[in-house]
Amino acid sequence: MRKPIIAGNWKLNNTVKEAVELTNGLKEGLKNLNESSLPEVVIAPVFTSLYSVNELIKNDSKISLGAQNCYYKDNGAFTGEVSVPMLQELGVKYIIIGHSERRQYFSETDEMINEKAKAILAKGLIPIICCGETLEQREAGVTDSHIASQIKKALDGLSTEDIAKSVIAYEPIWAIGTGKTCDSVEANRVIKMIRETVKEVSNSQAADSIRILYGGSVKPNTIEEQMAQSDIDGALVGGASLKADSFIGIIEGTMKVRA
Ligand code: 13P
Repeated sequence: MRKPIIAGNWKLNNTVKEAVELTNGLKEGLKNLNESSLPEVVIAPVFTSLYSVNELIKNDSKISLGAQNCYYKDNGAFTGEVSVPMLQELGVKYIIIGHSERRQYFSETDEMINEKAKAILAKGLIPIICCGETLEQREAGVTDSHIASQIKKALDGLSTEDIAKSVIAYEPIWAIGTGKTCDSVEANRVIKMIRETVKEVSNSQAADSIRILYGGSVKPNTIEEQMAQSDIDGALVGGASLKADSFIGIIEGTMKVRA
């Protein structure tokens, strides 16, 4: 059985003070929930809040720390970058890579995403590898081929063990921050196709183990239907992860379906 993951991608939001308040709100909300049926809960603040947020959650087994990006070299003359060992030192366990916003605004390529996945796994951390199509690609009927290509390039050269441990997030770009979720049955179909692609490049054991999340306008009132699908293993949440109530609502909805 794959344990669900509910991950909050806070994007470029929250000062340290606000991040601390939100984390405290989440800790409070999680107190009332039964730990044995909780999904894995991940929060990914901006780099500057990681230290303070980790101080609040490092002794709390209910929340894991994520980062929104990393560089693939450990150190050197790479001004402005942050490396995997530096994030690991701050308690980070998951690192989101290849988010469509990074691909679009910061020219992140499939090759860079592959280098990042290798660097993350080499240090024993877990990449959350994002993929997804634009509206134009969907309308042109190239969704599956585009996503299969993103996944094959991201996983290139990884061992089956490393692939099995990794996490993929399917985030249709047209569903991000728009309030338009992808129909759950369609999201499940794409996610099954991603699982088939993983099987092609590794084996069926890795394809059965890898967790594949859905992301794009996930809200407390969408999560139950999404989690009721056979292959959706959780959610990567943007906007609704910025308020403790709505993020906790998504966690509760997950527990209703997958307790
Ligand atoms: P929204 O939940 O705000 O649509 O963002 C999704 C996302 O991009 C998470 O990485």
